[in-house]
Formats: sequence, structure tokens, C-alpha cells
Amino acid sequence: MTDQSKDTKAQTKAQKINGVRGMNDLLPADAAQWAHLDHVLRDLVRAYGYEFLRTPIVEATAVFQRGIGEVTDIVEKEMYSFEDRLNGEQLTLRPEGTAALVRSVIENNLLYEGPKRLWYTGPMFRHERPQRGRYRQFHQFGIEALGFAGPDIDAEIILMGQRLWDELGLKGVRLEINSLGQAHERAEHRAALVTYFEQNQSQLDDDSQRRLISNPLRILDSKNPEMQTLIEGAPKLLDFLGAESLAHFNAVQALLKANNIPCKINPRLVRGLDYYNLTVFEWVTDELGAQGTIAGGGRYDPLIERMGGKPAPACGWAMGMERVLELMKVSGSLPEMQSQCDIFVLHQGGVTLVAAMIIAERLRSAGIDAILFCSPDGQSASFKSQMKKADASGAAFAVIIGPDELAKNEAQIKDLRSSGEQKAIPLDGVLEAVIEALVGASE
Ligand code: HAM
Repeated sequence: MTDQSKDTKAQTKAQKINGVRGMNDLLPADAAQWAHLDHVLRDLVRAYGYEFLRTPIVEATAVFQRGIGEVTDIVEKEMYSFEDRLNGEQLTLRPEGTAALVRSVIENNLLYEGPKRLWYTGPMFRHERPQRGRYRQFHQFGIEALGFAGPDIDAEIILMGQRLWDELGLKGVRLEINSLGQAHERAEHRAALVTYFEQNQSQLDDDSQRRLISNPLRILDSKNPEMQTLIEGAPKLLDFLGAESLAHFNAVQALLKANNIPCKINPRLVRGLDYYNLTVFEWVTDELGAQGTIAGGGRYDPLIERMGGKPAPACGWAMGMERVLELMKVSGSLPEMQSQCDIFVLHQGGVTLVAAMIIAERLRSAGIDAILFCSPDGQSASFKSQMKKADASGAAFAVIIGPDELAKNEAQIKDLRSSGEQKAIPLDGVLEAVIEALVGASE
């Protein structure tokens, strides 16, 4: 190749395009772990009678502004919002599932026949600084129980979480719980907080100065180390709860205790979304570095009315699936993955390919997973190189159809895992021979 033609080739080589920062591909090597988690989650929701509800990824921005609250990190800084080019509507990629689910429940009048237990899963989008365990597209599994007012359902959804962690073999997960009381109790606490922070205004950072006016409760969320002593000394909401709120909180704790669920009261736990009242909780771990909250939630009785529905109590939680999978890895509880398929079918092209394809289809129709060798360059490949592929596929047995076998109306079946034994079988008896071999291998 001349230098000139090399240059022209370099110029015409297309630039590769990378994925968006903080938004990850799920690669085949990890897909089975996700499928496993999905399977466990489906068993969990079935065991507790929860029904699936899927909302779209895009919602009117107002759903989250009103639902999550204007003065929250999510709404102020983290939403992927855009204007619909065709009709000018303000839209947002959902940053969480609860507000969208409530929108759907109201719109579809789902509480008409009484309370509902619902669950969802899917991608959420937040424009945060990506790091381990924190992504811009991440995936949540969430449950929401709507129309139940008592502490029993708060306890039930927490029991579901504990059952899930046990099922997944997670180690080092702690439950932290708090009560945010009711609006009037928070108002009294807020007034006391404002007075306290005003008295100590010189110690507030810029963000907190702003929040002192807009939403002083959020100052308690500050991660700024220089603010921590001040925050420690601030008035605690629990001291402002009235008898009813305290009774609810105590009843939840009593139910957890009766079910042997340890929990720690964390009076500083306020959550980052504005729809909560009474019980709030998070499951945290020290095993994942800075992003140690694997799941969180609580009661959000005001939300349905705030979103335009008939007032109804509700509570729920959501977990970050990436964080849970990471913790499974750290806990050593990711299961050994099974082989990808049962049978690998080898051939030598031409009529042997036709016979092999028909046999592979026959196996699949009988519920047997089969990979048919397909040559990368369209030419037939040696049995030796095909056998390497068969080994790597994880298949238990190979079915081999060469010209000699075909001439005798036969195929060969070879054990790829244990004995390595290979034997001839009649071509019209391949299915029976494969079933017999697979049953034998699983005994
Ligand atoms: P959240 O605490 O904002 O609550 O999110 C729930 C979980 O999603 C977190 O505990 C975390 O595991 C995961 N998560 C959040 N942001 C990220 C991120 N950037 N990257 C990876 N994982 C993340 C809610 O979303 C509420 N809707 C929960 C709820 C349901 N409350 C009542 N019902």
C-alpha cells in the first residue's frame, strides 16, 4: 500500500462513538447475574401478592417537580429534562419510579376497588457525578403499597426487603429507620431548625445558606464535613412528634422486633425526596464505599393528593440493582453460572449443514437449547476448530454430522464434560439419544 493510499484510508476510517458517561452497557458476561436477580425479585413479589405496573421512561416534567419537590437535589440539579421538539411539552427522563407510578394510579383510577400492592423495575436517570455505585442511568426495583394507612404495611414492606437480602445472600446490610412525623410537626421542627441555623449562620456553607430560606430540612442532608458538628447539634424531629405519630413509629418498631428484624433509629435520616411522612428507612452497607445505600423508602401519605388524586395513604421502597449486584459480588453470593446451552451441533457444510440445521431445530422444538456451528467466513471449518467452539460454549454434548456419518444415516454424540465418550447414533434417533444423554448427565 502506498503512503498516499494509507493516508486516505486513515482519513476515511470512521471515528468510534462511545456510550454516554455514567450510562453503562449490560454485557453478555453479566447478563446471567441480572437474570438471576430478576428471578429472585419476581419470586419475592409473588410471595407477597404484589402486581406489576410499568410506566413510560419519559413523563411530563411536572410529575417529578410536584411529586419529588422543587427544592430537592434531584429536581434542582439532576433531571434530564428537555422540550419536545414537536409540541413544546416539557418532558423528563424519570429519575425515580414513585411519582410516575402515582401519576399512573390516579390516571387509571386503580384505587377504585381498594388498596393496591404494586411493583416495578427499570432504568432511572439522574445527572450525578459518576463513580462506583453511582451512575447516570441506573436500574431500580421498587414496591409501592397504596391505600394502607396502618403500621402493619410499613413493617411488611421492610420484611420484604430483609427477606430479599437473605435470599440474595447479602452480608453487612443494616436497616436505619426514622419518623418524619406529620406536616404540622415538621413545621414546628422547621421553625426550631431555622432559629438554630440563623443563630449559627456564619457556619453555613453557600448551599446551606440558600436552603435556609428554601428548605432548611435539606441542610441536614449536607455531606460537607465542616458542617457535621453543627448538624449534630441541631434540634431533632423525633422530639417534635405528637402522640399519634409516635404510636405509629413505635408500632412499626414493635412489628419489626417481633419478626427479629434489627434496626437502628437514625434521627438524621430525612431522605432526598420531599413526599415522605411518618416512617422512612434505608438499608446501608459499609462494603461499597461512598455509595452505601442499597435501598430506601418510606411512607408518603401526602403524595397521591398532591398529584391530584383522592387522598390515600401509601408507602414503599426502591433499591438500586447495580448496588445490590455489587454487594452480592463483595459478599461472594453471586451464583456460579450454568452452561449456556445443552448441545452444540457440528457439521462440514453443504448437505451436512442442511441435516445439522434440521436436527438443531428438532432439538429446540423439544425444549433443548442448541447452538449450531456457523462459520465466520462462510467456509466450512475443521472439526478440530469447531470442537474448540463447542467446548467454550459450555454445552454438555456435541452432535457431529460429517459426510461419512450422513452417508450411513448416522450422527455422532460426544460427551464434552465428563467422559469424553463418543458414539454413533441413528440420524432419526438423535432427539432420543440427546434426551437420554442429558438425563444421564444430570443424575
Ligand atoms: P432513592 O433513595 O432516591 O429513592 O433511590 C433508591 C435507591 O436507588 C437508592 O437507595 C440507590 O440504591 C439507588 N440509586 C439512586 N441513585 C442512584 C444512582 N445515581 N446510581 C445508582 N443507584 C442509585 C427513590 O428513588 C424512591 N422512589 C424510593 C421509594 C419508593 N420511596 C417510596 N417508594
